[in-house]
Amino acid sequence: MDRIFPYDSVELSEDARELVILDQNVLPTNEVFLKLTTAQEIFFAITLLKVRGAPAIGVTAALGLAMCINRASVYSVEQLEEEFLNTKKYLNISRPTAVNLMWALDRMERKYYEVKSKLKPGSDGVQIIKDALVEEARAIKSEDIEMCKKIGENGFKLLTPGVRILTHCNAGHLATSRFGTALAPIYIAQQMGYAPKVYAGETRPMLQGSRLTAYELTKAKVDTTLICDSMASIVMKEGRVDVVFVGCDRIAANGDVANKVGTSSLAILAKHYGIPFYVLGPTSTIDFTCPSGENIIIEERPSYEISDTYFSNPVTPKGVKFYNPAFDVTPAELITGIVTEKGIFKPSELKQLFEI
Ligand code: MRU
Repeated sequence: MDRIFPYDSVELSEDARELVILDQNVLPTNEVFLKLTTAQEIFFAITLLKVRGAPAIGVTAALGLAMCINRASVYSVEQLEEEFLNTKKYLNISRPTAVNLMWALDRMERKYYEVKSKLKPGSDGVQIIKDALVEEARAIKSEDIEMCKKIGENGFKLLTPGVRILTHCNAGHLATSRFGTALAPIYIAQQMGYAPKVYAGETRPMLQGSRLTAYELTKAKVDTTLICDSMASIVMKEGRVDVVFVGCDRIAANGDVANKVGTSSLAILAKHYGIPFYVLGPTSTIDFTCPSGENIIIEERPSYEISDTYFSNPVTPKGVKFYNPAFDVTPAELITGIVTEKGIFKPSELKQLFEI
């Protein structure tokens, strides 16, 4: 799969002292790269959706933690450990639903203790641990790129020339280290001359579909049609959609999937109209400790995301109340298949992945 964009949504500088992210809040109007150097900047970049999408959040947290520890002025492994654990704890609560965040930070902690346990007397433990954490975080990012490529290849097998795909939110290049999950097969289809057509739901309230998915697909010259979320039913009824591809933030052990709010409505509609509904994501998004969708914490975000039309121009009368759940859970029985880097599985078959 060829590169689509010359930049990644998250990059650690060569000297591991700066994290550079493309600010997704100001896309598509402005392409602004932010240089982050502190835990607070990383925390707020994640919380305020400057960087978003489950895999990208995980990679940002891992690279950010490594960067903060690399910059830390400490003189002993004990001091380094305190700094590491405090920073990890802080970043861990930046968003609650996407499991990739906790998964990546836990992996960093395992590496920390593995390297610490092997330190030889008289060695420069602080530097050895700093270097190992940077290496581990970079590995998390490269593995994410490889997983997205494989998800793309596996998902591509479901597509035929001229295919029409409906997607929701943004599960593309911007939401991952590179290529995306739900959009990766579409990029391959485009490169293979299949001329795929994409319907992108705008994804209220934060418009990840109209601002981000439409931005990256049109940049890659994919035929893209934007619809309001409420138009999905008529678009499906008119026979304009062959398949639905969406990403995921957490997959429970029973195959229930949390993804951007509005996803479950699409799954219900797809079932009604007999359209296959696929979820695409890396196996790091499967949370085997979470028995079902009932156990997934759904992030509730601030009311201004609904009350204002994208941060400005209030459109609601005083006194009205708001409820803003950022995700919903699609029950396993509405999902045709889950496309991972390890293959395509029915939700009921996920347990096999323990053995692979
Ligand atoms: O609130 P967001 O924009 O982080 O939500 C993102 C989504 O719901 C994506 O579909 C999901 O993280 C998969 S990204 C490959």
